[in-house]
Amino acid sequence: SGYITLDSGYKNTGATKSAITFLDGEQGILHYRGYPIEQLAEKSNFIEVAYLLIYGALPTAQELEDFSGKIKMHTLVNEDMRKILDGFPSTAHPMGILSALISSLTAFYPESLNPNQTKEEVDLSIIRLMAKMPTIAAWSYKNSVGHPVNYPKNKLDYCSNFLHMMFAFPTEDYEINPVVVDALNKLLILHADHEQNCSTSTVRLVGSANASLYSSVSAGISALWGPLHGGANQAVIEMLEAIKADGGDSKKYIAKAKDKDDPFRLMGFGHRVYKNFDPRARIIKKAADEVLSALGINDPILTIAMELEEAALNDPYFVERKLYPNVDFYSGIIYRALGIPTDMFTVMFALGRLPGWIAQWKEMREQKEPIGRPRQIYTGETERNYVDIEKR
Ligand code: CMC
Repeated sequence: SGYITLDSGYKNTGATKSAITFLDGEQGILHYRGYPIEQLAEKSNFIEVAYLLIYGALPTAQELEDFSGKIKMHTLVNEDMRKILDGFPSTAHPMGILSALISSLTAFYPESLNPNQTKEEVDLSIIRLMAKMPTIAAWSYKNSVGHPVNYPKNKLDYCSNFLHMMFAFPTEDYEINPVVVDALNKLLILHADHEQNCSTSTVRLVGSANASLYSSVSAGISALWGPLHGGANQAVIEMLEAIKADGGDSKKYIAKAKDKDDPFRLMGFGHRVYKNFDPRARIIKKAADEVLSALGINDPILTIAMELEEAALNDPYFVERKLYPNVDFYSGIIYRALGIPTDMFTVMFALGRLPGWIAQWKEMREQKEPIGRPRQIYTGETERNYVDIEKR
């Protein structure tokens, strides 16, 4: 142990073996359990993909019905959770609420704290988390607008139920639009896993201390909130709106992004692993076009996004550094079209990433991985003697 290699940001260090997601950053390939992301986005739905990630194989019709039936049985959250929700100011960011309420599930289900749970008990925690996350997510939004919360409707599928809880009013039903439901399924599938990214590594690291599934995922939500990670989708829309308000001059912002004295970065551009293109961005860009035209929406910020992309892809700064649009560059434009408010975008990412976090946490436990404990290279003072306060 005397010799320590330093790799800030873990750019070249593998932290685990994993059989969940395959990613080739040079060629822009992404597979979940061997299945190409393009096929899953086109043909599958979010619950089926969740099953695939967590249990390793596509479900039979019966397995899918059981899985989705069990999730429906657990969509209600304890009424005492409402009291916690009520304690938050309406200005609270929904990601903060989500992280806090998911963490508090350990208080309602303390058996989840036992690291020696049986397989059946772990499965129940997984079902509960999949079931309650959309309820908590939608309630965090209702809190921010001061509206009464909606209870889940279990006759609806996973995505439709979420939309109902987000958008129905006591005075008015929410009409389910299949275009919106399909788009939501696709977005959640594209976000469902991405191997050892910052939030997933967080989930595995926290879980490696034998912390509960709920605590581990709550920590992952906090990591995802950061603007360099999941928070980028909100940051992209805010950037596009700022450019529009500033006269729509995308060239000016390309120049700012290139200026090393200016901290501004082109949000939604660049990726630690993808150095050619992000396959999810391709699917999302096409979906954004389709959704906007199906819903008859003409969003001027889509034009600004396309101009920025065009300008960046032809600019040596971005070309040399292999910076391409990532998954978040266009996802916010679709979320806007679906009526999802900007500060809920990262919550949507969390909803999508949940099965990935669960699968990775479960794999880490099943592989009996040791507690994660990176080393360091010390750069501080050598030994010195304590100086009494009057002598300093
Ligand atoms: N705009 C302008 N310059 C950039 C950008 C950008 N978006 N991204 C990277 N660069 C430059 C960076 O300044 C550096 O230049 P130089 O070599 O001259 O110092 C070079 O490109 C390499 O960047 P890096 O920061 O060392 O690369 P990284 O792998 O550490 O960071 C990243 C990857 C995604 C954090 C970064 O590209 C970034 O900040 N992008 C904007 C935020 C964003 O869109 N994040 C979402 C990522 S995808 C979804 C997710 O993970 O949640």
